[in-house]
Formats: sequence, C-alpha cells, structure tokens
Amino acid sequence: VVKKIIEKTVLSGIEALLLQLVCKAGRLLKNRIATKHHIVFKSEIDIVTEMDHMVEDLFLRTIAKKYPEHDVLSEEMIESTGQEYPKTPAPKGIVRWIVDPLDGTTNYAHGLPHFAVSAGIEYQGEIVMGAVYNPMLRELFFAKKGKGAFLNGKRIKVSGLKRFRQALLATGFPYDLKTSKINNFTEFKYISEHCQAVRRAGSASLDLCNVACGRFDGFWEYKLKPWDVAAAALIITEAGGKITNFSGRGLNIYGGSFVATNGELHTTLVRAVKTGSERLANA
Ligand code: IPD
Ligand code: CA
Ligand code: CA
Repeated sequence: VVKKIIEKTVLSGIEALLLQLVCKAGRLLKNRIATKHHIVFKSEIDIVTEMDHMVEDLFLRTIAKKYPEHDVLSEEMIESTGQEYPKTPAPKGIVRWIVDPLDGTTNYAHGLPHFAVSAGIEYQGEIVMGAVYNPMLRELFFAKKGKGAFLNGKRIKVSGLKRFRQALLATGFPYDLKTSKINNFTEFKYISEHCQAVRRAGSASLDLCNVACGRFDGFWEYKLKPWDVAAAALIITEAGGKITNFSGRGLNIYGGSFVATNGELHTTLVRAVKTGSERLANA
C-alpha cells in the first residue's frame, strides 16, 4: 500500500512537470516561429533548427534538476549525435521520458503553424502518461493510463465511423522516400482510392491526437521513432481507439511503423496498408 502511495505521489509530481514543460516549450516555439531559423540538414530532407535544440535543452535541464534519476530519450540528443536509440523499454523501476521537442520541424522551419511538443512517460515497460501540445491552437492533449484522454481538460473519444469509404485518414512519408522502396507511395494511392480522403499534415503526434479526438478516423505511417508516438499512443488508447504495429496486433512504440484508428476501422486499414504495399511488390 505504502509503495502504491509513494508511486502515486511521485507520478503526480511528474504529471505536473510534464504539463508545465510541454506548455512552456510550446510557448517558446510559438513566440519564435516568425524569426529566421538556423537550419542544419540531418539528411537530404530531414532538418533540425536551433529551436529543436533549445526546447530539448529545456527538457533535459529541467528533468535533470528535478529528477536526476530519470532516463530521457529525446530526438535530437540521439539524431544530432548519430547515436542509435534504444529499441526496448527502460529497465524495471526506471522512469523514462520520451520527448519530441518539436514534432513538425519542416512545417515550423517554413513558418507553417502546424507542429507540437510531445512527451510520454514510460514506466515498467509501458507508457503511463502522455502530453502533446499544439501552441498555435492552444490545444493540450493529455492522457494517463486508465484515466482517460483529455483535450484542454475535456474528455475526448475517437469517432464512431464504421464505413471505410467515408473515412478521413492521415499519413506521412519517411525521410528516405527518395531512395527507399518503402516510401508509402503505393499505399497512399491505394488507400486514397478507397476512403474519403487522406491528409499529410507533417506532425505525426498531432495526426494521432486528431484520431484520438475524432477529427481523423485513422492514421498509418512507416519508420516513425518512439518520440513521434510515445505520448499520442496512450492518448489514442485512452480515447477508446486502437494503435498497433503493421501486423494489426500488439503495440511496441520502438517498432517503427504504426496503424492507429477509431477501432472500428482497424482491420480494414491494416489490410489496406498491406494490399497497398503489395501493389509495389507486384508492380
Ligand atoms: C516528423 C513528423 C512528420 C512525419 C515524420 C516525422 P519531426 O517528425 O512527425 O509528420 O511524417 O516521419 O519524423 O522530424 O518533425 O520531428
Ligand atoms: Ca517527430
Ligand atoms: Ca522532432
């Protein structure tokens, strides 16, 4: 019982810090969106700005000060240093923050106001809390394991749509789309021909949150990283939706490729992604 109480108290401290950090980081990004950015190319089309680093530093410094024992997995500390990111959850008993300081960097660098700050808390092998903040719309998505998903404090849930033909879906394309055959082109074509429409908005965490609150009915994407999905995966499931890897069963946030839906459309979307990818094999 005592252990449970301590765990609860510690987690509520983390919850407060998580919400403070995503909001503070979001405000920082919003205030500087119109300034000239320093852009570094991580690959031909994958960029990072000084703001990704500034926000990441804010997370790293604040967490290290308040919770020096916590582990942090954050995009730029991995990608800008050429490190490999861990492919498995943190060891038992360790709290891991999984942070995307700026999800939608390409949009941001072009002044397109569609981006977010995303942070999930992993503990004992699962995401227990997640927050995604869109500072331009002042939308804060938050979920706690077993306690529901919320947008600005109001409970959210996925859409109830059952007919794939009427579905509004979202997706994205990987940064190696010019050189890799796994580029989502045939999947995009096939699925676009069978649903109402597919959007490519440029921020995976917001795509997923938009599934969670019923604006989108589903989402799929190849080659995502744990920081793109950690927070939003919990937000989707707590909103009554489903998120899995491409097999359609089970979820591993380190697993790279994801299908997320309102639940009703899951099997159909999983099947459609598979059929679309087979078009490539048969082309
Ligand atoms: C990207 C965005 C984009 C998705 C890419 C992600 P970044 O994140 O979420 O929508 O298509 O796969 O890498 O690089 O802006 O943090
Ligand atoms: Ca991202
Ligand atoms: Ca990012």
